[in-house]
Amino acid sequence: MTEFVFATHNAGKLKELQAMVPPSIKLLSLDDIGCHEEIPETETTFKGNALLKAQHVQKHYGLPCFADDSGLEVTALDGAPGVYTARYAGVGCTSDDNMDKLLAALENQSDRSARFVCVIALLQGNEAVYFEGFCPGEILSERQGTDGFGYDPIFKPNGFDRSFAQMTMAEKSAISHRGKAVAQLVAFLKNSQ
Ligand code: IMP
Repeated sequence: MTEFVFATHNAGKLKELQAMVPPSIKLLSLDDIGCHEEIPETETTFKGNALLKAQHVQKHYGLPCFADDSGLEVTALDGAPGVYTARYAGVGCTSDDNMDKLLAALENQSDRSARFVCVIALLQGNEAVYFEGFCPGEILSERQGTDGFGYDPIFKPNGFDRSFAQMTMAEKSAISHRGKAVAQLVAFLKNSQ
């Protein structure tokens, strides 16, 4: 059994990820290792923020770690909210606040295309290896479904007639930005064993 810290406080993300990796890999969240602080995400790219989070854990806890940074890029908003996806409606806002703000910003917009992006940074000593996944889709005009987390109820992936929040975790992971990035990470870990 290999243990890795996955640098997140988000229980929804940890659950999704644990289900995607082989059973021989046990993931620990930040809270599992006693890291209760918010790691600052001060970079302007997903890659930069993923690296910051992984480096924080390595520096302060000395444990093998990877981190992801993810977000939503909306075409009609020139790629916003991007790296600000988690705090789109302001620091301390809820997912509902974020969805309300995005639905309002897209009112009367005919182009509702968007994509989720996920970058994972895996630290191996001082070297970082990156894995990237994208999921194209569109922003619905109202919430559909209640599963998942974040913007799931208003994001419909291309080729489906349901939102992420109406899919099982396995269905979502097979096509999601995070699923695609994790598949590359898992292949990399298998090859380097
Ligand atoms: P991060 O935790 O800094 O990567 O923040 C990414 C934010 O993007 C999260 O707080 C969610 O609001 C949103 N997000 C990322 N991935 C997903 C997803 O799979 N479904 C819904 N929202 C997501």
